[in-house]
This record gives sequence, structure tokens and C-alpha cells, in this order.
Amino acid sequence: MKIAFIGGGNMGEAMLSALLRKELAASGEVAVADVKLERRDHLKAKYGVKVTENNLQSLFGAEVVVLAIKPQNLSAVMAELAGYLKPDQLVLSIIAGARIATISGGLKHRSIVRVMPNTPAQIGEGMSVWTATPQVSSPQKSLAAAILGAMGNEIFVDDEKYLDMATAVSGSGPAYFFFVMEALVEGAVEIGLNREVARELVLHTMLGSGHLLERSGKEPAELRRQVTSPGGTTAEAIAYLEKGDFPRLLAGAVRAAYEKAKQLGG
Ligand SMILES: NC(=O)c1ccc[n+]([C@@H]2O[C@H](COP(=O)([O-])OP(=O)(O)OC[C@H]3O[C@@H](n4cnc5c(N)ncnc54)[C@H](OP(=O)(O)O)[C@@H]3O)[C@@H](O)[C@H]2O)c1
Repeated sequence: MKIAFIGGGNMGEAMLSALLRKELAASGEVAVADVKLERRDHLKAKYGVKVTENNLQSLFGAEVVVLAIKPQNLSAVMAELAGYLKPDQLVLSIIAGARIATISGGLKHRSIVRVMPNTPAQIGEGMSVWTATPQVSSPQKSLAAAILGAMGNEIFVDDEKYLDMATAVSGSGPAYFFFVMEALVEGAVEIGLNREVARELVLHTMLGSGHLLERSGKEPAELRRQVTSPGGTTAEAIAYLEKGDFPRLLAGAVRAAYEKAKQLGG
């Protein structure tokens, strides 16, 4: 697959390394345009991909053009690329908050896939939620699913509105889990555990719980009940969390992120 990246930062690198690892593209088929010389040198040396500082040059022959720049650079990039994309080139944007209508209008292009990825995509454990314009063909949709599948899990949604919801759950989600982990480590240190040991306990409890949930096929509530014997230690902890309205607090956080995502998208 011939693919171009506009922006070779964290996410651009995560995507291209996943594509090369899964052999969906050969290094000679990947072109990266980035304004930073340091990034271009790094990507060329590490992956053997083609690099350029010229965004337009990277488009040549590409089946897929990935927009992996920061939202604040989007207008400038769109002004530069507008009118140069061929109708059969697929534009795949991972830019948070950038609406399809904005990208389509700015680029004067109709085949667009918009994706909300998350940071674990950097290690192939991502959760990407994506949608496509009606002009995106079936083979292009399969290509998009394969590209995103190389970075972890992917789910297609048939309406862009679900991307704002996904932003609040899977996009921002890693931060929620990290926040909980930070607090658990602090709690463990407060009761006397060494910080290193506390970190190990929290990390492996979280990983193990996630894997148990995935492999058992059971609901979280059922698995929680299995650890919560009446009158026991877990029951005491859960009662404390319920007294502090922990479930409502988390649901409220999701809603706050959702409202912000809608507002940022205009
Ligand atoms: N990081 C994540 O986990 C994550 C998750 C979901 C969505 N996203 C989205 O992914 C996008 C990329 O994020 P990132 O973390 O990879 O950003 P990043 O590391 O800043 O990468 C963007 C790269 O593009 C370069 N650039 C800036 N202007 C350019 C231009 N006009 N033409 C070509 N290249 C240009 C930047 O150079 P300078 O540094 O010099 O500006 C930088 O090297 C963002 O829109 C973000 O919303 C990221």
C-alpha cells in the first residue's frame, strides 16, 4: 500500500511503524512530510521511509494520505493541499476535534475517513473509532480498517456524532485509568507499601483485571461481585467508593469530556 503521512510526530510514527511491522506497507511505499528536520532524519534512519519537507510532494502516487498534524496546523496544511488530491485518494484524519465537513471543505476533497485513536495505539494496543464519508468505497473502507487494525482494535461507526462520544470514552480514557492508578499507588504508599512494590501491584492488578474481563466474557459487575464477599475487605472498600458517589463521578467525567469534544468540534 502506498501511503503518505502529513506530520510525522508521535501518532504518525506509531501508525507507520505498525504498518511496517504488520507488512501492510513496505518502507519504500511510505512517504512522510514533516516540517521538522529532526523528525525527518529520525524516521528515515529508523524505518527507511521516504521523507520530505514538502507536503505536496508526499502525495504523489499515494492511495492513502494520513493527516497526523496537530489541530492548530490543520488550516495551513489544508490551504496548501487544497485542489491537489485526486478523487480516488483516501484522506484519513486522526486530528482530534476536526470535523469531516471542515476537512472536506478545506481540502476540496470528498473521500474522507475520520478516526479517533488513543495513545495505546503507540504500542499496537489502541482503540480506534472511525467513520467515513459516503464517497469512501468498500475497498477503501477495508484498507482503513486494516490500517487501524494494525494499531490495535478498531470500530466503524456510521455517524460522525459517535466520534465525540468515543473521544470521551476511549480517546480520553487512558487518562482516567492512569489517574485511578496514580491514586491507588498513593493509597498503597500511605498504608506503608514501598512505592516500587505499590506500582507493581497496581499495574499487574489492572492488567490482570482487563485480561480477565476480556477472556472470561463476563460482565464487570459479575467479576466485581466475585471478589466482594459480604462483610469482607473489598465490600468495605466498595462501600467507601459508593459513599463518595464514585460511579456518578466517573459518569460525570465522561459527560464533561463529551461536552468539551462537541464544543471543540464547533
Ligand atoms: N498523541 C495521541 O495519542 C493522539 C491521540 C488521538 C489523536 N491524536 C491526534 O493526532 C494528531 C497528531 O498528534 P501527535 O501527538 O502525533 O502530534 P505531534 O507529535 O506534534 O506531530 C505532528 C508533527 O507534524 C509536524 N507539523 C507541524 N506543522 C506541519 C505542517 N504544516 N506540515 C507538515 N508537518 C507539520 C509537527 O512539527 P512541529 O512539532 O514543529 O509543529 C510534528 O512533528 C493530533 O491532531 C492529535 O489530535 C493524537
